[in-house]
Amino acid sequence: MAFWKPGTEKPRFVEDEEGGIVFLSSSLPSSSSGYGFTSMEKQRQRLPVYKHRTEILYLVETHATTIVVGETGSGKTTQIPQYLREAGWADGGRVIACTQPRRLAVRSVATRVAEEMGVNLGEEVGYTIRFEDHTASGLTSVKFLTDGVLIREMMDDPLLTKYSVVMVDEAHERSISTDILLGLLKKIQRRRPELRLIISSATIEAKAMFDFFNSSKRRRVQEQEGDKKGPILEPAILSVEGRGFDVKIHYVEEPVSDYVRTAVSTVLLVNEREPGGDILVFLTGQDDIEAAIKLLSEESESSKQRKSSGLLALPLYSGLSRAEQELIFAPTPRGKRKVIFSTNIAETSLTLEGVVYVIDSGFSKQKFYNPISDIENLVVAPISKASSRQRAGRAGRVRPGKCYRLYTEDYFVTQMPGEGIPEMQRSNLVSTVIQLKALGIDNILGFDWPSPPSPETMIRALEVLYSLQVLDDDAKLTSPTGFQVAEIPLDPMISKMILASSELGCSEEIITISAVLSVQSIWVIARGIQKDLDDAKLRFAAAEGDHVTFLNVYRGFLDSGKSSQWCYKNFLNYQSMKKVIEIRDQLRRIAQRLGIPLKSCDRDIQVVRKAVTSGFFANACRLQPHSNGVYTTVRGSEEVYIHPSSVLFRVNPKWVAYHSIVSTDRQYMRNVITIDPSWLTEVAPHFYKNRQHPTVP
Ligand code: CDP
Ligand code: MG
Repeated sequence: MAFWKPGTEKPRFVEDEEGGIVFLSSSLPSSSSGYGFTSMEKQRQRLPVYKHRTEILYLVETHATTIVVGETGSGKTTQIPQYLREAGWADGGRVIACTQPRRLAVRSVATRVAEEMGVNLGEEVGYTIRFEDHTASGLTSVKFLTDGVLIREMMDDPLLTKYSVVMVDEAHERSISTDILLGLLKKIQRRRPELRLIISSATIEAKAMFDFFNSSKRRRVQEQEGDKKGPILEPAILSVEGRGFDVKIHYVEEPVSDYVRTAVSTVLLVNEREPGGDILVFLTGQDDIEAAIKLLSEESESSKQRKSSGLLALPLYSGLSRAEQELIFAPTPRGKRKVIFSTNIAETSLTLEGVVYVIDSGFSKQKFYNPISDIENLVVAPISKASSRQRAGRAGRVRPGKCYRLYTEDYFVTQMPGEGIPEMQRSNLVSTVIQLKALGIDNILGFDWPSPPSPETMIRALEVLYSLQVLDDDAKLTSPTGFQVAEIPLDPMISKMILASSELGCSEEIITISAVLSVQSIWVIARGIQKDLDDAKLRFAAAEGDHVTFLNVYRGFLDSGKSSQWCYKNFLNYQSMKKVIEIRDQLRRIAQRLGIPLKSCDRDIQVVRKAVTSGFFANACRLQPHSNGVYTTVRGSEEVYIHPSSVLFRVNPKWVAYHSIVSTDRQYMRNVITIDPSWLTEVAPHFYKNRQHPTVP
């Protein structure tokens, strides 16, 4: 593998087709790299957004919606909420909200802003993420939260009356929650003209945001009637120049075949040749990340010690426990160099102060939903230019940096898509529909979406919710099931499974299973350990399938006194197991709040399987006779296979239900449980009775 070398034949900074605004921004005076010596206040004033402070405040004062366009690092997230507060938007007990698509970002920016303001986190500056509230009511005036949490707050306070300004940050990411939030905020504005919105977005999505907020009926009325009361309804757009530090982009000269291996060798190359500074590597998921860390550690054990000396490898993905995620923010010990192997969880918002080098694999795991087959796949797919820019941006936050892209420049320029498809248009919308229903939005098809999902997807979602008995014949939430399912902040199929377990007397077991399904994998994932891992799994394997196996693992973990040694011996990921315990505790609290009795069925596995079927009947599959492992989904007759990681791999029971599908060469079912087909018509009569499915009894 070869990269263009700094200062040699080929250009190192690349102007992309949008005019090079991204990587050619001018440097700040070098004195700003003397961080640590300058006061916080001076640092704040050096950020590009500071020059626009007055302008921003003026626009927010006069416009209902202000769109702030700026590349990463200009100071949008950390500064704008503070400007608003300084200008009085938090007076009289009002609150300024700033949303982020990711939990990790919420925590980290809130911490930073509290630090800049010299206050304790959780007092004037607070944050809320799912299962975690660090705010003090009556005291917190600047609140960071995920878009999802703000949507949930609308269940209690539909007009978000305590907020004076809502800043929707990273709107260009177009996560489902961001899109729903934008639609809802637009509705709220009609009822609460005094509410101000700030939409922060990368250049590429700004036009879409403008069009969305410009199309309001009220604005047309305002224009026709010459109404001068209240803020101007046409959105304002303000452009803030990019961050202060250059990031030099290097491309590979030839396409790479194994990005994990190439990423690791690039880490070694940087370590060998480049001056100090941490490295952030973007891979796709826990599996890649653990494979990369293993490769790197093998490398250090091998003869080429020098190349990897002083490297400190850290994983970063959403399934890790909070403590382990926070390691990435800890200062790097002297003489060491941190290497953070991350999913796109670190792609936006975060400032990792020591990171100088970014290695971008060019891939991420993305959801793709097909309403015809009704299968939502998680696939490793190429990222967009917008994402690759965000990734590179992580290198230039506090000083100049370098980004090594593991794809060719030609690929970047000619083939990489400019922007991703909004998550809304490539996801199963069961959760979305139930959220909107819970907010009293009945006409889902007529909802004002920033990017409307396909009607087929909507109809599929309504159909599943109806079968889950969450919606009634009039497509209204049922009581209590529908309201309870909406209340549990999990996938409705899991929530329904929990409710069913309450009747079946196995809520303790089902809550454990739900917690395990909420982490990416409880098993250690690494290359070259397959045989040992399979042996370890056999020690816990249950003939009924993966869900029941999880119960065995969980019991073993408790019996061991939650020992990390025990996990190590059994090829279990200790961090994931700790996370399971955390989530399990939270789910038990929610269950109690909803009046679900916590009961164990001891070893009566039949009821556990039935409870799982009550939630996941739509994912039922049947083995094709004489087929050697080919299954078809009962619902869409799609061909699927049991994933090799399942304890039922090669066992091939006749009837199963799966939790999710991953696609590589084939569509594989992950986390599979055996079911009794007669339960299908019992738990979901609407779903299975009236269908033309000869395969269903
Ligand atoms: O939101 P945007 O990308 O525009 O920038 P920001 O998150 O507000 O951060 C602006 C700058 O503040 C970063 O580029 C860093 O220079 C600095 N910062 C920092 O040094 N440490 C943090 N934890 C957060 C921000
Ligand atoms: Mg930001």
